[in-house]
Amino acid sequence: MKYDFDRKVDRKATNDMKWHAKAVSSYLQRPVPEEMIPMWLADTDFACAPVIVDALGKRVSQEIFGYCAPMESFYKAVCYWQKMRFDWDVNPAWITYIPSVVAGINIAIRTFSKEGDGVIIQQPVYDPFATIVKNDNRKVVNNGLLCKDGRFEMNLDELEQLAAKPENTMMILCSPHNPVGRVWTKEELKTVANICLKHDVMLVSDEIHGDIVYEGHTHYPLMNLDEKYAQKFIHLTAPGKTFNVAGLKASMSIIPNEEVRNAFVKTQIAMSLDVKNTFGIESVIAAYTPEGAEWAKQEVAYMQKNVDFVEGYIQEKMPGATMIRPEGTFLCWLDLSGLKLGDKEIFRRVTLDAAVVCVPGPWFGPGGEEHLRLNVGCPRSMLEEALERIRTELYR
Ligand SMILES: Cc1ncc(COP(=O)(O)O)c(C=O)c1O
Repeated sequence: MKYDFDRKVDRKATNDMKWHAKAVSSYLQRPVPEEMIPMWLADTDFACAPVIVDALGKRVSQEIFGYCAPMESFYKAVCYWQKMRFDWDVNPAWITYIPSVVAGINIAIRTFSKEGDGVIIQQPVYDPFATIVKNDNRKVVNNGLLCKDGRFEMNLDELEQLAAKPENTMMILCSPHNPVGRVWTKEELKTVANICLKHDVMLVSDEIHGDIVYEGHTHYPLMNLDEKYAQKFIHLTAPGKTFNVAGLKASMSIIPNEEVRNAFVKTQIAMSLDVKNTFGIESVIAAYTPEGAEWAKQEVAYMQKNVDFVEGYIQEKMPGATMIRPEGTFLCWLDLSGLKLGDKEIFRRVTLDAAVVCVPGPWFGPGGEEHLRLNVGCPRSMLEEALERIRTELYR
């Protein structure tokens, strides 16, 4: 079956965070125009896969929505997906349902570090990483990414030095990386994992974007690269990005080591984060199937064409702006420093004048100055209109 990713769905008719100017204004702490095009929040604007919509419809018809728990079919679905996509043999006992990956990061930090400890992250990176670390009274330790010859890389020498400091007890890895779009190679992942093992740093691998990888690149679950990693570290993932079901709050940790898993679950319960969502469970069971895989394959192919479109548009019509092509994720990291406008003016022209809401680069930490994160998980017509509006205001 061929799915239609050009179709626009009216999200304003729902209690939706991305499309309501009020919600966006409160997030950005600045009023945004009502007629804005939202290219900010990392969910897609595609109608959810029919296999999931059908499953949820069937569940609604059962007329009862009491407390729920994932049963065998949930664990089987997660194992099926990891084997089919990544050739990773996951034991159902390793899986724990968590309401969100962000919650999983918070649980891990509270379990495996203490107040005052340093937590290594690689900025510019998904902004909640730094927020959670600070909220938990730990210190953000930035192992900033380097941009070398038009490609982002990790600063592995610096990572080794940071990991060697006894006060730095954890690292949160974004794999693939939001917002720079790198899909880390096996070698890079192994180097990071070996450094963390050597210095006894607990590594949490956030792989929520792992299904969205473009031609020529392969995502490797870090834990599947070596049994040593599996016996020490934590893997977090979810169908939220791939299937646009972030609102259903069904994510999962995969932790092979029983001691590590038990400690994680103990904190999870102490934080009352062992909550489940009836529809979230159903969405996982429906998504992680051959039908779900076919839908996701077509979605990724469509988004790859969106990336092509943005790349071509910038090269042709936006002199001074650049984009390093993402290897994965539906997020494009635009470098506008060549325009010499500064962050405030970029925000004013793009968000307020053009009324296109992108995430301002500085939100992702050092390295984000004069950048914007543009979400391309949307019908092409929406992307075309957004880029036209942005270009008009940036080059007026
Ligand atoms: C890297 C990364 N991790 C986690 C999340 C959020 O996941 P969840 O909704 O499961 O907390 C996002 C959403 O943008 C993300 O980009």
